[in-house]
Amino acid sequence: MNNPIKVALCGLGTVGSAVFRLINDKSELFKRRFGAEIKIVAVSARDKCKERDLCLNDVAWFDDAIEMAEVSDANVVVELVGGSEGVALEVCQTALSTGKDIVTANKALLAVHGFDLAKLADEGSRSIGYEAAVAGGIPVIKALREGLVCNEVQRLYGILNGTSNFILTEMRNKGLDFETVLKDAQMLGYAEADPEFDINGVDAGHKLALLTALAFETKPDFSSVSVEGISNISELDIRFADELGYRIKLLGIARRGPEGTQQSVRPCMIPKELPMANVDGVFNAIAFQGDDTGPVLLEGRGAGAGPTASAVIADLSDLARGLRLPTFGVPIKKLKLGNPALEDTAVGRFYVRLMVLDRPGVFAEVAAILREQDVSMEAILQRTRAPGAPVPVVMTTHEVNQLAIKKAIDQFSSLDTVLEEPRIIKIENLGL
Ligand SMILES: NC(=O)c1ccc[n+]([C@@H]2O[C@H](COP(=O)([O-])OP(=O)(O)OC[C@H]3O[C@@H](n4cnc5c(N)ncnc54)[C@H](OP(=O)(O)O)[C@@H]3O)[C@@H](O)[C@H]2O)c1
Repeated sequence: MNNPIKVALCGLGTVGSAVFRLINDKSELFKRRFGAEIKIVAVSARDKCKERDLCLNDVAWFDDAIEMAEVSDANVVVELVGGSEGVALEVCQTALSTGKDIVTANKALLAVHGFDLAKLADEGSRSIGYEAAVAGGIPVIKALREGLVCNEVQRLYGILNGTSNFILTEMRNKGLDFETVLKDAQMLGYAEADPEFDINGVDAGHKLALLTALAFETKPDFSSVSVEGISNISELDIRFADELGYRIKLLGIARRGPEGTQQSVRPCMIPKELPMANVDGVFNAIAFQGDDTGPVLLEGRGAGAGPTASAVIADLSDLARGLRLPTFGVPIKKLKLGNPALEDTAVGRFYVRLMVLDRPGVFAEVAAILREQDVSMEAILQRTRAPGAPVPVVMTTHEVNQLAIKKAIDQFSSLDTVLEEPRIIKIENLGL
């Protein structure tokens, strides 16, 4: 039996409490499987008096998490506070600088400071475990860093936020609008009281930045992820998507091409028959195209106490077994700059919905703009006629330059027969 792994646990909220319980409840199983005991020696949270239903008698309590990271006799600090700055960052910096490994579920922290922390880890021959930071219970970091290690990944994409996937699924299944479903999701505990990062795509963007770094051996760079959320998706668009043979999903997509790396999070229409289109509710999924493996699809629960704690323990098991890997797959000096590709030069297919006044000549105006911008249409739908009243007109394009479609949208907006901001959604075929 190896020496015990001594853990200082920072944060005893949803995930921290679950980790504490797992380590106590499954200690025999862990000893058997890891060949070492996992022992919590110190904990820290904001409020010592909070009722937590945890037996904390045998562990040292620290009011100051940074002090705990520095002076406790732990060999690993598990950071489960959250946030890209402040305590979480200082705890990780202190732990690494004082020779401790870290394990964290904090994607916001790593997406912004991952490179500097990885540098600290490299310098001190320590490791950063972050399986829990991306897609909770899905072992996606292990899959990329170890299972797919011999592959050159050209593209990866995924549903990386369970809250937004739940909202889109409920809108489709129940025919409800975004606001109503968001309130239901908050009542059910699937959305935070402040759901901003989940619905505006930032949370998925943080995770995508980490996956991109790992898959493409680049510095993690959240600032070059182009991010758009789901709050503009209407129930009407979901119905039209269905009619056209698509589902709308908030997808994180990273591609590497000769002109650079493109990272985006945005609502996309994908063919209904794709496995990813049928990943519903709070589930997450990630797909890779490996040059040797071919397509790989991983699916599971992306958040919640159990799945996230399970991922934290997986990182602790690596330490118990003496496995320390470079944070982003290669030594820090080998990480390349991501060289972000310009979005405007990208080519793609689009769904466009206009709300127009149903009167003669409207189609001619729309067609003239499309012709001027060299946008070629694949299909056009107008399901209802209501002379003199607003009606939706839906178009899908062939492959067009993104800049051209943006210019066309601007011109549509200036027509007085177009009554609302045009809706535009990229169509991704993702033929893995
Ligand atoms: N919840 C999930 O399903 C999930 C899934 C994947 C990843 N994550 C990530 O896991 C991390 C933790 O999330 P969570 O949901 O467990 O958060 P949470 O329930 O809000 O818990 C946060 C914990 O941090 C403690 N804390 C706050 N400020 C502190 C400070 N200054 N010093 C010491 N402790 C402090 C809080 O103390 P008190 O208890 O005293 O208030 C609380 O115990 C975040 O990075 C999150 O993004 C969460």
